[in-house]
Amino acid sequence: MELTIVGSGYVGTTVAACLADAGHRVQALDIDASIVARINAGESPIVEPGLEELIATHAGDRLVATSDYANLPTGNLTMLSIQTPTHDDGRIDVGPLAGAIESVGARLAEVLGPDDRHLVVIKSTVVPPALETLRTALAEGFGDASGTVELATNPEFQREGHAVEDFRFPQKIVLGVESSWAETLLRELYQPVIDAADPVVIVTDPPTAAMIKYANNAFLAAKISLINDIGNACKAFGVDAYEVADAIGTDDRIGARFLRSGVGFGGSCFPKDVKALQGAARDAGYDPMMLEAALAVNEHQPRRLVELLAERIELADARVAVLGLAFKPGTDDIRNSRAIPVIERLREAGATVVGYDPVATTNMRSRFPDIEYTDTASEALDGADGAVVVTDWDEFAALDDAFDAMADPVVVDGRRVIERRDGIEYVGLTW
Ligand code: UGA
Repeated sequence: MELTIVGSGYVGTTVAACLADAGHRVQALDIDASIVARINAGESPIVEPGLEELIATHAGDRLVATSDYANLPTGNLTMLSIQTPTHDDGRIDVGPLAGAIESVGARLAEVLGPDDRHLVVIKSTVVPPALETLRTALAEGFGDASGTVELATNPEFQREGHAVEDFRFPQKIVLGVESSWAETLLRELYQPVIDAADPVVIVTDPPTAAMIKYANNAFLAAKISLINDIGNACKAFGVDAYEVADAIGTDDRIGARFLRSGVGFGGSCFPKDVKALQGAARDAGYDPMMLEAALAVNEHQPRRLVELLAERIELADARVAVLGLAFKPGTDDIRNSRAIPVIERLREAGATVVGYDPVATTNMRSRFPDIEYTDTASEALDGADGAVVVTDWDEFAALDDAFDAMADPVVVDGRRVIERRDGIEYVGLTW
């Protein structure tokens, strides 16, 4: 098949490269000329395992990039993966996505004949009520689109750091369509993945598909907050939350994954999507109580981490090592990383913060330019009066001798990653 994917961010680039690898001819369209140049040069504009190899293999052949809407359409499918920035109140801004859809519509109006049919697929995460705004934007570009241009939603469930693998081996593919023609087209698009991984294919209407994405992320985020809530209670009772989680995880109604309690969830998806869903539901007249609680627990966890340290050392003028700055291991992404509130609170308490992360230091430096950063965990721990662990990087498991160089070896672990516990004052967040 031939198609264009508008937007070459994390999701758009991965999907474009993976669909090219699956055998389709993919045009990636982005208004950022530097991203287009990188893709056409066979380089990845983002850090994602396996992606650079795919782009290098297919660039200039089954994968081409452009900035020009005049190169639309290719085939009869255009997919949009444009960011939806968050307003201060948590609601999403569909303005950039609506602008792109309008541009797509205007270009399609120039080239499509009365007998042509084109599918515009929204890959971006949008709340169901926003679909009307997008439909209006499409009509502003195209005019009356009925019968010629159809909208569909097709949310994405890839994790950062595993995006290529998750694309190839998804558990489910969700198609939000309005006709059997659109369903057939999207099934054809995903046929190589369906053949290889045998995912469940869910076919529904566009708003339901959009809601499935939010429900999925909200459920996982709430699951983490629930185990954190239970974990805090466990700690108060002197019980190990991880032993409890292992036991309840054997109940397949609960499931073993996403039961790691600790300093909470970060990233560009869970915090953003839970807030967006909360805002959209409030606008529609319902105030979701579980979502409020999920967010509140997530803000509590980094505060609790710092409190546990403050119960043991005087934070004013203390030198505190923050181990891990990325929102999770395997990425340099610091968006909503729990390290941010941890660093803020440590600084409010008068501590001198020394940050270490194997890959996320550069990104955190732009958020906190005036804290100290080190190239190794050992350097961060050297002379420190205390340490907190925020990201579960494997290398933190075996720091062993590095703790010996601390002035006061108090270590509060927010991710249950430290293995050596003798010779230091080891404090688990929920265990
Ligand atoms: C998440 C979802 O897992 C993907 O399915 C979804 O496609 C994506 O959002 C998205 O909407 O684009 P991602 O944000 O990349 O993916 O990261 P996760 O691996 O899900 O981790 C999110 C956060 O939860 C991390 O900060 C992690 O440390 C935390 N977490 C995860 C826990 O605190 N405990 C757990 O047991 C699991």
